[in-house]
Amino acid sequence: MEFRCAAHRYQALVGSGLLEEVGTCARRYFPLKTCAIISDSNVAPLFAKRVHESLIAAKFTATLITIPAGEKSKTLEQIGTICDQMIAAGLDRQSFVVGLGGGVIGDISGFVAAIYHRGIPHVQIPTTLLAMVDSSIGGKTGVNTRDGKNLIGAVHHPLLVIDDVDVLKTLPPRELNQGFAEIIKHAIIADAKMFAALKDVDLEDLAPLIRRNIEIKSKIVAKDERDRTGERMLLNFGHTVGHAIERAGNYREFLHGEAISLGIVAACSVSMKKTGLPRDQRNAIVDLLQRFDLPARLPPNFQREKIFQALPYDKKFESGKIRFVVTPRIGSAHLSNEVTMEDIREAVDQL
Ligand SMILES: NC(=O)c1ccc[n+]([C@@H]2O[C@H](COP(=O)([O-])OP(=O)(O)OC[C@H]3O[C@@H](n4cnc5c(N)ncnc54)[C@H](O)[C@@H]3O)[C@@H](O)[C@H]2O)c1
Ligand SMILES: [Zn+2]
Repeated sequence: MEFRCAAHRYQALVGSGLLEEVGTCARRYFPLKTCAIISDSNVAPLFAKRVHESLIAAKFTATLITIPAGEKSKTLEQIGTICDQMIAAGLDRQSFVVGLGGGVIGDISGFVAAIYHRGIPHVQIPTTLLAMVDSSIGGKTGVNTRDGKNLIGAVHHPLLVIDDVDVLKTLPPRELNQGFAEIIKHAIIADAKMFAALKDVDLEDLAPLIRRNIEIKSKIVAKDERDRTGERMLLNFGHTVGHAIERAGNYREFLHGEAISLGIVAACSVSMKKTGLPRDQRNAIVDLLQRFDLPARLPPNFQREKIFQALPYDKKFESGKIRFVVTPRIGSAHLSNEVTMEDIREAVDQL
């Protein structure tokens, strides 16, 4: 099935059996001949052969580049190694990059596409739910440095995103559930109807839900492509505290979506206090998070103080001003300048 993100230069296909169609889809969108498939050591053994064969059948020359799975691969060094392999394979300005994997591969392959020969087309084939509903949309690409996450990067929108929902069958449950944290976030900030429908979601038929989430994120991004007007900040709902929790847990204790789940609960406390979010709506949010096995409380022995130490690193604390995303009711959100560090502390203490 075809999906058009109205304001965007790229298209997203969401459906079943699409890995076999990658070659014909790519052919429809651009006439280039050679490409690199960038994937990771977990995903490549599962899906790379199908993607490769599909590209060959459509008369592309494709080189598979596999990197070690995990966030530790998101380095400039890895980017250099990939580029060297692409040069060795003879890829040039007429080539394109196919990213096959989760958000890590999306960010890496997108960054390679952004800088190789000063920019070549990028095709994303996200294989995690988080990547389908979040990281593959919006054009942000990049790597981490020793000092922090995503500090180096580029905005480079993919030309084409292909979401084959069948790939989600091999995704570990924890990874699937963390994708729902971002989906619930989208529902809270933009779609009360989707929120209500989520408790009965059909895990066997996720395509309609994925399409709706692409629509929500791309609409917000289209209004504020470069993160300048504040509109895009709405996507950071739950992320101020969430990022701090992720960091406080040394990026090991919680997956991103799990930390965001806790951050959402904290943002709900702040919203109750500052914008009158009704308690029953806050409770409905917590119930929904828990339905997907996402945490709503911190483990009792968690060092909360570390969360506060981590807070100033969040980019929303730029120049000392706290800009916090609050929700007055499910389905809407706005930025507030009224939230104090004390409000945040109170919310974290309740976790
Ligand atoms: N660019 C953006 O806008 C944006 C937004 C959100 C997150 N991100 C980035 O995304 C990354 C997180 O993405 P992620 O959660 O997808 O992590 P990930 O790419 O590390 O994937 C999670 C794990 O699942 C494995 N995996 C992936 N697909 C699989 C499948 N179908 N079957 C079995 N195993 C599979 C991977 O090998 C990995 O071990 C972070 O680096 C984050 O910074 C970027
Ligand atoms: Zn997130």
